[in-house]
Amino acid sequence: MSIAVNEQERIFRLDTPDTSYICAVTDDPGYLGHVYYGPRIPDDDIRCLLRTSENPYIPSMNKRDKLSFTDCYPMEYPVYGTGDFREPALKIRTPEGYCAAELNYAGYSVENFKTGPVPGVYGDNGQVLTIKLKDDCLKLEVLLKYTVFDDCNAVIRHSEIINNSSSTLFLERALSASFDMDNEDYELITLNGSWARERHINRKPIGYGFQGVYSDRGETSHQHHPFLGIVSKDCTQSRGEAIGVNLIYSGNFIASVYEGQFDNLRVMTGIDPESFEWKLNAGESFVTPQAALVYSAEGLGGMSRSFHDLYREHLIRSPWKDKARPILINNWEATYFDFNEEKLLAIAKEAAACGIEMLVMDDGWFGKRNDDNSSLGDWNVNENKLKGGLKKLVDGVNALGLKFGIWFEPEMISPDSDLYRAHPDWAIAVPGRTAGLARNQYVLDISRSEVRDHVFRSLADILDSANIEYVKWDMNRPLSDLASLGLEADRQKELSHRYVQGVYELQGRLMERYPDLLLENCSGGGARFDAGMLCFSPQIWCSDDTDAIERLLIQEGTALVYPLSAMGAHVSDCPNHTVGRVTPFETRGYVALAGTFGYELDITRIPEADRAMIPGQVKMYHMYNELVAAGDYYRLASYSGNNSYDSWMCVRKDKSEALLTFIQVKGRPNAHSRKLKVEGLDPGKTYRIYRFDMETVSEVPYGDGKAYHGSTLANAGLIINNMWGDNKGILLHIKEE
Ligand code: DGJ
Repeated sequence: MSIAVNEQERIFRLDTPDTSYICAVTDDPGYLGHVYYGPRIPDDDIRCLLRTSENPYIPSMNKRDKLSFTDCYPMEYPVYGTGDFREPALKIRTPEGYCAAELNYAGYSVENFKTGPVPGVYGDNGQVLTIKLKDDCLKLEVLLKYTVFDDCNAVIRHSEIINNSSSTLFLERALSASFDMDNEDYELITLNGSWARERHINRKPIGYGFQGVYSDRGETSHQHHPFLGIVSKDCTQSRGEAIGVNLIYSGNFIASVYEGQFDNLRVMTGIDPESFEWKLNAGESFVTPQAALVYSAEGLGGMSRSFHDLYREHLIRSPWKDKARPILINNWEATYFDFNEEKLLAIAKEAAACGIEMLVMDDGWFGKRNDDNSSLGDWNVNENKLKGGLKKLVDGVNALGLKFGIWFEPEMISPDSDLYRAHPDWAIAVPGRTAGLARNQYVLDISRSEVRDHVFRSLADILDSANIEYVKWDMNRPLSDLASLGLEADRQKELSHRYVQGVYELQGRLMERYPDLLLENCSGGGARFDAGMLCFSPQIWCSDDTDAIERLLIQEGTALVYPLSAMGAHVSDCPNHTVGRVTPFETRGYVALAGTFGYELDITRIPEADRAMIPGQVKMYHMYNELVAAGDYYRLASYSGNNSYDSWMCVRKDKSEALLTFIQVKGRPNAHSRKLKVEGLDPGKTYRIYRFDMETVSEVPYGDGKAYHGSTLANAGLIINNMWGDNKGILLHIKEE
């Protein structure tokens, strides 16, 4: 990793182990343009790629035609109003209502990376390049920040906008990153879905005009995701070019590509401007969220592995980051709201006997909540349900040898709650208008510090009252009817961003006070599974859909960007509560093993044959979890593409072993076995393959039992026999000889 600046030529290059990112400045008045992002290249002067000779605009040379220049120049941080007619990254309004701005180069610095904004990356092996741009007319300064680490193929960008004038400016748009490139027949990948089918992979050609995804729901959302993949047409898991752009943020976002008249692409991401404005008083500055950029010449797999490394090594902070997470059993799908301490202790007892390590008490333990119509905000234990109180229950669970975890939904308020009766104005609503309910609840205005303080005290009171070692932080509705009594009229459009900052502040405080707490974020399933939340919790509940086959699609899309160690995944009961599908218990285990692994079922009532398998699955988790969590992820086959089978592999970094999972979704009559090409092994090493046998809970030799070279397995492949039936799975441990 290195940052190199050619001061005379005003060229900036950021090299990561395998990539180069280059931008450069024209002659005065100095426009910063994007030159190159791709495989690492030697230090040649390639500023000709800015194509300034085709439409020169240097006032001394060509005063009469600036707009031909601004209309096509690959601006590194484009601004609105002075002749770049494509999407801008920045739009400023003056008190007079003028919106024109222009940014020109004003200097740079290179420093060792110390700290950046939170959420954001950290690390002691990074460097940061700051390029200063300014608008003399507005007395505005923009600092573009680029961070690289020496162990990671990622460039992390954000910007800081500083008002050096003596009057107020309004930011109508302040994105995190933008860069231009030629469209060489690229395709666009986005992650889309809905509740119970989050982050399905979508791929389509890029065409002219504007395309992309956004969220205006106050959270990253079930529907779209702050990720874009720009991939070559021939890009597969292992070959072709892939550029990934992922915003490290948990609120309203935009991630877009614009193809212009010269077949040029403008790729950008940041806070969604539709629901945003920021009042910047004289002397104040605004810092955008960070965006992570990854280039891979090794297809989507290379891109995913770079994101995983970046997030495991430089984003997730929890002390649990590299530790085996306790295998938990959550009572949501087991009991929903219908539980008491007796029921929970019965589950805990059976769970302990099977080797499960933690009981998580989900929604319904507080106020008078017996369904989802009341009590959010009243974080006091319902002693009708939990006789003797929380401490008694937790002590009872601990006495069985299990840790205890608890569910909260801290950002919410039920109209039927003591909190609402005392503070109706704490619910987000436009005065004079009845706000819309979702799941019969409103959202608390946690942009207000007094509301945040109350929420924090409520949480701390519960956490201090018993030995609680895990919190599931849920958020079950989007934000609507936006207005805050805490903000002046000309700051109302700041609410969504201030809300997200409020969430971050609360979770930051929580982790400061309870540093060993295992925090799992959640949002009606996976509506806030994003890199912003990963700064506070090492794992996030992936989806309310626990069906093993639906999870193949959800987990493939999630793992495109996020490490498996972050994906909350549980074995649940069948018929599955969301889709009614019946799958073998083994398969449910293999799929959950690709995430944090846990259970979400009534262990006292499931079929005996399933229950009897749990101790073996617990052993399986302990045998392989470390490899899954820390290994390099290779996707070998996609059910999303072939509609028939799915396969992925986790390879230890030193390539001494790998765990391969194969799920046959559809059995086939009278068919040959499948040949699977095994990526990611060391071509020169020899490996022997073992199958994890669920019945004996041990490894048995697989296939002909012979040892094969990594290159043989990669090129000739491995035989996977047909299994009898649908939804069957197999787990193979590939070990170096
Ligand atoms: C949504 C979550 O995703 C579920 O796991 C569960 O916690 C419910 N909320 C509880 O209301």
